[in-house]
Amino acid sequence: MMIQAHGGTLINKFDANYDLTNVTKEIELDAFSLSDLELIGIGAFSPLTGFLGKEDYESVVQNMRLANGTVWSIPVTLPVTEEKAAELVTGEKVKLTFNNETFGVIVVSDIFTPNKQVEAEKVYRANDDAHPGVSKMFERPSVYVGGEITLTKRVKHERFESYYLDPVETRAKFAELGWKRIVGFQTRNPVHRAHEYIQKSALEIVDGLFLNPLVGETKSDDIPADVRMESYEVLLEKYYPKDRVFLAVFPAAMRYAGPREAIFHAIVRQNYGCTHFIVGRDHAGVGDYYGTYDAQLIFSEFEEGELAIEPLFFEHSFFCKACGNMASTKTCPHTKEDHVVLSGTKVRQMLSEGVVPPPEFSRKEVVEVLIRGMQKVHA
Ligand code: ADX
Repeated sequence: MMIQAHGGTLINKFDANYDLTNVTKEIELDAFSLSDLELIGIGAFSPLTGFLGKEDYESVVQNMRLANGTVWSIPVTLPVTEEKAAELVTGEKVKLTFNNETFGVIVVSDIFTPNKQVEAEKVYRANDDAHPGVSKMFERPSVYVGGEITLTKRVKHERFESYYLDPVETRAKFAELGWKRIVGFQTRNPVHRAHEYIQKSALEIVDGLFLNPLVGETKSDDIPADVRMESYEVLLEKYYPKDRVFLAVFPAAMRYAGPREAIFHAIVRQNYGCTHFIVGRDHAGVGDYYGTYDAQLIFSEFEEGELAIEPLFFEHSFFCKACGNMASTKTCPHTKEDHVVLSGTKVRQMLSEGVVPPPEFSRKEVVEVLIRGMQKVHA
């Protein structure tokens, strides 16, 4: 028996034959909302069937639960301008468009002005513009529209199209592979040795690894998705057993909400069919906003049975020269001097200057792809 979707039912809100003839008003989406629309439509955000209404929104912000009590940690909202909001009436259907194409319909249930200061403090645990998730939230329009959606058209993904799979498809794939215990791995970075180490440590105790890099909007200094995808392909080719790893993309926008986003990332991977989810150090974090293990601690705020997916927690890991292998403070008695630790910023700087990070930090095949990719970006 495959794990159930969060909330019990895998949502499907896609209907290509939806009759749009009498739907005249429209809301123009940004790329962020288009991605949310698609993810709701295909069930990745089960049990959500639309953008959050006021009651659910406030409950999520304050209690990390929908109004009915189901755990949900990130507000999935549809921001519109005040002018647009003034045109809308609750109860009516409105087209959701992007670049003049209609991708869905919302049945407007709520039109409300959120308190974004509270959202910043509660969801992001931060309230300054230097936080990329907070600044993005404030940048977007000020009124939220809630309501059930229908996805009426699939978004065409030009890049690495074969890696876009819906939750029903990944679930079918895991069943076909005969996997029962599946660990999900979220990343917005290339897979370095530390990532590889925690993935393979997890792989020792489960049947398969679902490598699920996020390829939606990320902040501008994160490594572009196409370069990362190529790096995952070479890594899997060279260093992973083919029948134990499955790679597919997660087309969501990155929120950088640290602990809250770790819960969200876990729930979504459950919807894709995972039974376990890796949470390492500073998951979905940025700068110094979150404590190293806050994204692990937050899981203890839920009661037994509230989350079906099991988080697998990993300590900060590194290569230890004295041990001669990858380790963490749980397994290595040596001091910092023996540990190869590089910050993301440092590595990006090395790559863009064509400087090769040491093999203890990253596989050479991965580095080659990244250097080529980053030089193209900076060219
Ligand atoms: S994230 O923003 O998508 O979470 P990243 O791609 O850096 O960022 O991390 C992917 C996963 O690997 C997260 O669960 C993160 O906690 C974990 N991780 C990253 N680096 C390390 C490390 N050196 N040691 C342990 N876990 C790590």
